Amino acid sequence: MTDIKRVGVLGCGLMGSGIAQVAAAAGYDTTVRDVSQQIWDKARAGIEKSLAKFVEKGKLPAADRDAALKRLHFTTATPDLKACDVVVEAVTEDLELKNALWRELDGLCGPAAIFASNTSSLTIAAMAAATKRGDRFVGLHFFNPVPLMPLVEVVRTVTTSAETFERTFAFARSLGKEPVAAKDTSGFIVNLLLVPYLLDAIRAVERGVGSVPDIDKAMQLGCGYPMGPLTLLDFVGLDTTYKIAEIMFTEYREQRYAPPPLLKRMVLAGMTGRKSGKGFYDYSLDPPKVVALGV
Ligand code: CAA
Ligand code: NAD
Repeated sequence: MTDIKRVGVLGCGLMGSGIAQVAAAAGYDTTVRDVSQQIWDKARAGIEKSLAKFVEKGKLPAADRDAALKRLHFTTATPDLKACDVVVEAVTEDLELKNALWRELDGLCGPAAIFASNTSSLTIAAMAAATKRGDRFVGLHFFNPVPLMPLVEVVRTVTTSAETFERTFAFARSLGKEPVAAKDTSGFIVNLLLVPYLLDAIRAVERGVGSVPDIDKAMQLGCGYPMGPLTLLDFVGLDTTYKIAEIMFTEYREQRYAPPPLLKRMVLAGMTGRKSGKGFYDYSLDPPKVVALGV
């Protein structure tokens, strides 16, 4: 544990729910804000299921699971996060949305509180500048699924103080994660390399290089990746990937970050991947079946 006691999490979608889970499991009193009770109910059910798997495997005593669940509080009111020592933001990848929340929280939280964004592609400086705590603002980039992926990128922007960076590093370790330091450049380390690969897999579908399952199978069996790129895209969320690609393309003006037209069409059709039940695969079927895309 660190000097941090109370953790706030903004957003409890795919990432926020995972971040809240690891924070509560690490012993922090954790308050999660999202926009509706329906969303928390889904997040809580996912967290319960994930913790149950760890209990089943003997990795977590049942009493610790129960204690973790007791430390988790859900709310729709931002002021409920005012006593938090660290707030991790994991709302939709949209600068204006994120900054509206940061501005509100800046006036509510104590002077020592650290603000940390889980953004995949936005510039940390653009969020820090919306607050009066640029020295206490960092990037804290987790990986999906948060309870299983060991890496966290800790991102120091031009205004982040050495103390904030060190406290955040220690906080990441206290969550059982392995932190690496990354510069405040769009995509940090992992997405700078991963996003062009994922977008190229969509371009391969567009060009008919191989079928969706064959492209996945090729990268799994040919390169030893745990998931094929199209399965991973469904897992990350096609809507989130589209936003990330737009942001990185705007930042770098390099074709490899440009969102492929097929990605845009799928997002417009509501095919956002696992979270909506359909993307490159249809998850209403067991096992999931490839979707006919008409390309
Ligand atoms: N909580 C607890 N346990 C879980 C779980 C969860 N959320 N999800 C899966 N598990 C368990 C499963 O029950 C399973 O247990 P058994 O071994 O007892 O069956 C075990 O973990 C392995 O799961 P699976 O058999 O379903 O699948 P797997 O062996 O392929 O492992 C995986 C799952 C760890 C997700 C693996 O497929 C993987 O590493 N995939 C790649 C993920 C990845 O690349 N993530 C990064 C995305 S990019 C990003 O996050 C950054 C960004 O900004 C977009
Ligand atoms: P998601 O769509 O699953 O969840 C976003 C959540 O934000 C939703 O539950 C939504 O209701 C909530 N939200 C929207 N407006 C809000 C508001 N005003 N207040 C509180 N909550 C609000 O998205 P996600 O995949 O969890 O991504 C969240 C962030 O994490 C994004 O910045 C994304 O780039 C980043 N990220 C995503 C992944 C991934 O694999 N999906 C990995 C690492 C980082």
